[in-house]
Amino acid sequence: MQLLAVRNLKKNYIVERLFTETKQTVIAVDDVSFELKKGKVLAIVGESGSGKTTIARCIAGLEDYDGEIFYKGKKINYKDKETRRQIQYIFQNTYNSLNPKMKIKDILAEPIIFHFALSGKELQLEMLKCLKNVGLKEDVMHKYPHELSGGQRQRIVIARALVMKPELIIADEPVSSLDVSIQAQIMKLFYDLNKKGLTVIFITHDLRIVKLISDEIIVMHRGKMVEKGFVNKIYKKPESDYTKKLLEAVI
Ligand SMILES: Nc1ncnc2c1ncn2[C@@H]1O[C@H](COP(=O)(O)OP(=O)(O)OP(=O)(O)O)[C@@H](O)[C@H]1O
Ligand SMILES: [Mg+2]
Repeated sequence: MQLLAVRNLKKNYIVERLFTETKQTVIAVDDVSFELKKGKVLAIVGESGSGKTTIARCIAGLEDYDGEIFYKGKKINYKDKETRRQIQYIFQNTYNSLNPKMKIKDILAEPIIFHFALSGKELQLEMLKCLKNVGLKEDVMHKYPHELSGGQRQRIVIARALVMKPELIIADEPVSSLDVSIQAQIMKLFYDLNKKGLTVIFITHDLRIVKLISDEIIVMHRGKMVEKGFVNKIYKKPESDYTKKLLEAVI
C-alpha cells in the first residue's frame, strides 16, 4: 500500500541580505516528487544545505509549501489529530528537542496521556514497553535528559515518537552526533523497528550508513533530487555525477 506521495514539492525561503536591505529567495526544495510504500525505508541523502530537513518539515506540516503531499491516498490533512499522531518527526537536533526540566517519565507520559488517555498502571506499562523497545532500562525514568548519554537521549527521542504508535517516522540525522559504535546500535534499532512494520524516512548526509537499512534512496543536491532508486542500483550503478562523488567519498 502506498503510504505517502510527494508531488512537485517546492519550498522557497525569502531571506534578508545582510547590510544591503535587499531580499533574496533561497530555493530550498525544487520540484521534488517521490512515493513511499508502507513498511519501507526511504533514505534522503545529500550534503549540508541540500534541502533534506526542508522536505521533512514540509511532510510533517511545519512549513507551507507548493506542490502536494498525499497520505494514505488523500491530500494530507494536518488538522487531523490521527494523521498528526501517525506521522512522527524526529528533529535534527535531539538535545533541544527534550525539555531539560522534565524527567524522562514525564516526557514519555505526556504524549501517551494526550493521545490515548491512559493513566496509572496502564500508563506505566506502556512506558516500560516503549523503553524496552528502544533498549533502555526502567532506571532512566527518574532521570533528566542531561543525566543521559547522547545515545541514551537519542533512544528516548525515538521512544517518545514510538509511544504514539506511529505508522511513519521521519528521522532527521538521528545518528550524526553519536560515536560510531553507538551509531551502529541506533541503526540496528531502526532496522528492527522497520522489521516490525514501521515505515521510515531516514535523513543523512552520510551515504555509508543507510546501505543496510534502506530500500530506496533519494539523493538531493542544492534543492533538487538528482537521483532516486533502489539501494543496490544506486550503489552499483549511480547515474548522476553527484551521487558518484558521494560514493567515492565513502569508499
Ligand atoms: N528557515 C529558513 N530560512 C531561510 N533559509 C532556510 C531556512 N531553512 C532552511 N533554509 C535554507 O534552505 C536550504 C536547505 O536547507 P535544509 O536545512 O533543508 O538543508 P539540509 O539538507 O537539511 O542541511 P543539513 O545537512 O545541514 O541539515 C539551505 O540553503 C538553507 O540555508
Ligand atoms: Mg538538515
